[in-house]
Amino acid sequence: MPNIDNPTGKTLAQLGVTRPDQVSPFFADLRVTFDANLALVHEETEWKMLRDRWLARKSGVLTLITDNWLKPASPDLKRAVGAGLNELRSHVESQIESRRAAIETGADQSALTRDRIDLSLPGVTRPIGSHHLIRQVFQEIEDIFFSIGFSVVEGPEIETPYYNFEALNIPEFHPVRDDMDTFYLDLPKGAPSPLLLRTHTSPMQIRTMEKQKPPVRVIVPGKVYRRDNPDATHSFIFHQVEGLAVDTDITFCDFTGTIEYFVKQFFGPGVKTRFRPSYFPFTEPSVEFDVTCIFCGGTGTAAGGGVCSKCKGAGWIELFGAGMVDPAVYGFVNYDAKKVSGFAFGMGIDRLAMLKYQIDDIQVFFQNDVRFLKQFP
Ligand code: PHE
Repeated sequence: MPNIDNPTGKTLAQLGVTRPDQVSPFFADLRVTFDANLALVHEETEWKMLRDRWLARKSGVLTLITDNWLKPASPDLKRAVGAGLNELRSHVESQIESRRAAIETGADQSALTRDRIDLSLPGVTRPIGSHHLIRQVFQEIEDIFFSIGFSVVEGPEIETPYYNFEALNIPEFHPVRDDMDTFYLDLPKGAPSPLLLRTHTSPMQIRTMEKQKPPVRVIVPGKVYRRDNPDATHSFIFHQVEGLAVDTDITFCDFTGTIEYFVKQFFGPGVKTRFRPSYFPFTEPSVEFDVTCIFCGGTGTAAGGGVCSKCKGAGWIELFGAGMVDPAVYGFVNYDAKKVSGFAFGMGIDRLAMLKYQIDDIQVFFQNDVRFLKQFP
């Protein structure tokens, strides 16, 4: 029986082999061992270990056989050892090579399965958004005023009391400051002046006139803030477009004509406008502009009979405040009140959008619900 404990580390003499017919069982055994080793090889690192164990130049099994069995063999054994060795070598080499190929294509196969692109899957779509309805209404209003020579300016949402109130003829203890329910910023102690979120876009009247001499024709779209409890018609953030026109010869007729032109462009030629006396510290006279109710056509009666719920039967809807610029305001910007005159208006954009698009809750503008936004692509 061949010596199973590493027979290749010994010479044939040490293994007790003296006759050629004793040689082949050793090779047969080695072949069985090799085949058993080979059966356990499934991936590259295992394969490398097998290859090194059998074929490594210095201490591989085949080298050991050459060194320990073949070289020292007596001439009559050499033939049998040489034949056995050749046969074992070609078996080992060819099996190792074909296992290498099998592992490689197997690995390729699994990589292919892993990376395969599934063309039947739906593609990744990135829906293109659209402008928010408020943004669209700003745009419509800007276009209308562009067409009659106004330009657009924008200003800061954080203001000083001077621009938000004082320079607009609203001194510190003036009662209209109460209406404004202002948000003041929490500033560190020792800050030079209080700051607030602007309660209207009117501060931009002052900032514009400080920067430029008459003639002035600007509109100011923007966000404004007032401490209000949210409900269907109130929000602590809303949007305004301020308008200001100042020149040497602007009359009340220019003022009403401009407003009427705007309203007809925006709501359609069928609507009528009217104005009622009102009060703002920075305009004199001041007015409130109304339009005929968009919902009942100014009749005060709902489509199905009964009182129109939107205008409460009045046939008119209050639209926005406006007036001729109060001469006192010119004093704050170094305009000569004797030489110039002008008008100003401030429209609530959320309200205009709600009327035009028949939306009955202002909160939808701020909720970002795509089901609402998608209705205005
Ligand atoms: N700023 C006023 C408001 O927000 C509106 C207004 C603007 C009135 C310009 C007259 C002139 O209520």
